[in-house]
Amino acid sequence: MRVLSGIQSSGRLHLGNYLGAMKQHIELQEENECFFFIANYHSLTTVQVPENLRAYTQDVALGYLAMGLDPEKAFLFRQTDVPEVTELAWILSTVTGKGLLDRGTSYKDKTARGIAASMGLYSYPLLMAADILIYRSDIVPVGQDQVQHIEMTRDMAGYFNNTFGREVLKLPEPRLNEAMIVPGLDGQKMSKSYGNAIDLFDDPNTTRKRIMSIKTDSTPVEDPKNPDACNVFALYRLVARPDDVKALEERYRSGGMGYGEAKKMLAEAVEQVLGPARERREKLVADPDYVEDVLRTAGANARAVAREVMAEVRDACGLVAAKDTHS
Ligand code: TRP
Repeated sequence: MRVLSGIQSSGRLHLGNYLGAMKQHIELQEENECFFFIANYHSLTTVQVPENLRAYTQDVALGYLAMGLDPEKAFLFRQTDVPEVTELAWILSTVTGKGLLDRGTSYKDKTARGIAASMGLYSYPLLMAADILIYRSDIVPVGQDQVQHIEMTRDMAGYFNNTFGREVLKLPEPRLNEAMIVPGLDGQKMSKSYGNAIDLFDDPNTTRKRIMSIKTDSTPVEDPKNPDACNVFALYRLVARPDDVKALEERYRSGGMGYGEAKKMLAEAVEQVLGPARERREKLVADPDYVEDVLRTAGANARAVAREVMAEVRDACGLVAAKDTHS
């Protein structure tokens, strides 16, 4: 199975990015042919300070490698190293009704939050469809908020194939990431734009302080607590070992434990994951040539696949003479 997913480089990576997406991606590398890319063209819809876009792009690459992505097993590359995706996005735009994009919830949400309604933001799903279709991806692991984009991708692939009478583009299947919602400090979905995120690569002290500031209710220490209604526990469940999760769950239910203690346990569990990753990241920061080499090599491999598909796409829609593509 060819698995593909992208992650935007629109801010420093946080625990929500890792638990909600990257972790599953890294696990999938064991059994599948994986294409993971840094969606920097997409990020340009919201990040328009060049130093920042560059830094965030590098941060995603470092983060994936530090958290365990193995470049021998998965391709990790920059979206911009396969510029053909922008061409495919254009071609898809010619077979896609405007009404489909009008229904995009992500566009509606972003503009409602005050982000400028640029054409890039509006066309975002076209580029995302191109990302997926250009590699003939079978499976796209995503969070709940991206499922509509995969449905749109399937629609667009169908429009193309129908319009040109050839099954050139393969319809992908979404695969929901198991950690559907990673709560932030205030209990809303963890997101950079809500200011409720725990960064992946802060210094350990800052991370600990952030964790200690997670919002909890005012149940007194001695009372039993409901683990399923607690943000601290929700995060603990995602990072700790199953036995430890069970143990903490029992302590919640039996009472006599304050939230402060649960937060300390969460901070420790988080540090057990992030501590070693922080060290790996430091080594990678010291070796930018290695990181660049990983990205370029994977980008070249991905681009080779993209070029083959694009030759068929162009041929199917008559953008070049049939004899040229078959020679
Ligand atoms: N829109 C995705 C997000 O914000 C990122 C993305 C871009 C993506 N292109 C993709 C995800 C292709 C999966 C497949 O999370």
